[in-house]
Amino acid sequence: MGSLTAENNIVLSADDKDTTLADRNTHATRVAGLGSDPEKKALFASVTKRIDYTPKFGTELHGIKLSQLTEQQSEELAALIAERGAVFFRDQDDLDYKEHVKLGKRWGPLHVHPLVPHTQDNPEVIVLDSRLSPPSRFNTNDSWHSDVSFEPAPASFSILKFEEIPEAGGDTIWSNGYQLYDDLSQPIKTLLEGLTATHSSDIFKILTQSSGRKTFGKLNDSVHPVIRTNPVIRTNPVTGWKSVYVNPVFTREINDLNPIESKWILDYLADLVSKKLQYQIRFHWKKNSVAIWDNRSTYHTGVPDFRPYHRRGVRVTVSGEKPFYDPASGTQAKAWEVTAKAIVAKQEATEKANVEKANVAAQDTASATTA
Ligand SMILES: [Fe+2]
Repeated sequence: MGSLTAENNIVLSADDKDTTLADRNTHATRVAGLGSDPEKKALFASVTKRIDYTPKFGTELHGIKLSQLTEQQSEELAALIAERGAVFFRDQDDLDYKEHVKLGKRWGPLHVHPLVPHTQDNPEVIVLDSRLSPPSRFNTNDSWHSDVSFEPAPASFSILKFEEIPEAGGDTIWSNGYQLYDDLSQPIKTLLEGLTATHSSDIFKILTQSSGRKTFGKLNDSVHPVIRTNPVIRTNPVTGWKSVYVNPVFTREINDLNPIESKWILDYLADLVSKKLQYQIRFHWKKNSVAIWDNRSTYHTGVPDFRPYHRRGVRVTVSGEKPFYDPASGTQAKAWEVTAKAIVAKQEATEKANVEKANVAAQDTASATTA
């Protein structure tokens, strides 16, 4: 095991001994959230306030203590995260490392990061401390990615809590992979469906060599880089919706295309992720805020604007199923048509009721005047 820093009580080197792949990355054997109550009645019975960040993406829930969820509530929450992409909570002061791990384990095996430091006694709880990460143009926290997409069992959910926040700045932004897929033209969809891409952990070696940062453990060539082939269009197993699953940090090439074609398409998709504001939500952290997101269908990036202040977060990462693409999958756009119709019907009913109420009031006034 690596060295401890006295003040932060964290282990800097996660991989000094030859951690095998099986030790740290196992597929989920079930899909958390699948088959739970579509209305999520158990979860919403405890919710005091719901704030949707956009109609399709991102939700903040008040009234929930993540350390006190029932099994049914945690299943419904998993489904909600898959549908909304990311769900946010405030004031989770009682979500200590033990409870943090317990919540993650409800949804699947926990990932042990091969290189990022972790808290003492909790290899599954990694530490994101800006003091350990000097600014770098390769810094993964200012680049769009989905967590550990290079692993054989990439992350389903990430659960991130900030224990220390900067006095200003340091927000995180997420981008919606469902919407990215839905907005592509049919010829581009047809091209990408069925293609695979190569993902690699080699960025960590580049980071270590370029910045001299101390954050990462021994770069064992038998383990690193980890290289993985994933479908370019991925089906989310909970929602059954298609999303685009390539990212600029870990995806190296689209297989079967020539390098120029591959670069062109990866750059184009990365541009859409980072520039299309309508795909994005932004979260402003407070101390003890928690964000949980679905890596299968979203991208995220930290905003590197907070120095000289510092921040320290702890993350538990849940390993998901083997990524797959099912041509028969649905889409968020299709599911959204039903939701949008219901919203319009509700608006029309409210407007009609308001008009009727105004008419009744006008008649009452007229009657009073003529009486
Ligand atoms: Fe991340």
